[in-house]
Amino acid sequence: MHARQRVFVTRRLPGDALERLRAEHEVEVWPERLPPPREELLRRAPDLDGLLSLLTDPVDAELIAAAPRLRAISNYAVGTDNVDLEAASARGIPVGNTPGVLTESTADLALALMLGIARRLAEGEAFVRAGEWRTWEPGLMLGRDLHGATVGIVGFGRIGQAVARRAEGFGCRVVQSSRSSGVALEELLEQSDFVTLHCPLTRETQGLIGREALARMKPTAYLVNTARGPVVDSAALGEALAAGEIAGAALDVTDPEPLPGDHPLLAAPNLLVVPHVASATHATRERMAAIAVDNLLAGLAGEPMPFSANGPVSPQAP
Ligand code: DGY
Repeated sequence: MHARQRVFVTRRLPGDALERLRAEHEVEVWPERLPPPREELLRRAPDLDGLLSLLTDPVDAELIAAAPRLRAISNYAVGTDNVDLEAASARGIPVGNTPGVLTESTADLALALMLGIARRLAEGEAFVRAGEWRTWEPGLMLGRDLHGATVGIVGFGRIGQAVARRAEGFGCRVVQSSRSSGVALEELLEQSDFVTLHCPLTRETQGLIGREALARMKPTAYLVNTARGPVVDSAALGEALAAGEIAGAALDVTDPEPLPGDHPLLAAPNLLVVPHVASATHATRERMAAIAVDNLLAGLAGEPMPFSANGPVSPQAP
């Protein structure tokens, strides 16, 4: 039996996984809907042994340095771009993440976005609700087919492959481009009717889809982003949509995120945006909570985390 340690959880999580954490440690959960302010995290840092963070919490070198007792960070996401992995590794702090359990839900949403933007679902719904639907018309709300289209997948990890399986089921031709396999990005952009992003946000992928990349896409093609907002240059995307350089874009993630209601990108035509909900199903968010708690319990016990984004680090002795 290990000594009880102090843990801060930056938001309430779905399901009952936090009960398992409470059974073993002193747990405080931030009760608000919005993330704890930076000053709040820094104020709590000196007393913390464990931190369960969300993708909205920057766990950077300054915060890690302010937490001399910290021995485990568990991020409630597969992406860990909000955590300074180098700073954590330098201190021997393992950083947990939640791969696998959100793969299928994220791939489902990528397909929903492809269909949603190409078949103009949001527009159609607004049209009906506005009372503008008078009759069946041959030319009303014409879109483009997903079946038979070429789907270009950028990043071919678990989620990219799950999207490929679905696209093949729709009768699409799939091309992919990743660090270690597939075609060159330029070729993918030129060939695809749908370009869907599934790479992590890193120094290399930040701004990957900018002016030049968008200009390579077909004017009839759609861009779908369920990866991270900054992989796409928002200003360049707004310009490409306004100029009709591409047919449309469907975004689950944005830069900035959240996208303010008066952001210029929202004025662009043929844009579908949802609020970073690719993993937002009851089952998936509960499984993510269970893994995040498993990771934190292991890290606090000085054992290897089931899923860690910074490889084997040498955990500090309990
Ligand atoms: C992740 O896990 O990185 C997603 O963006 C949210 O589930």
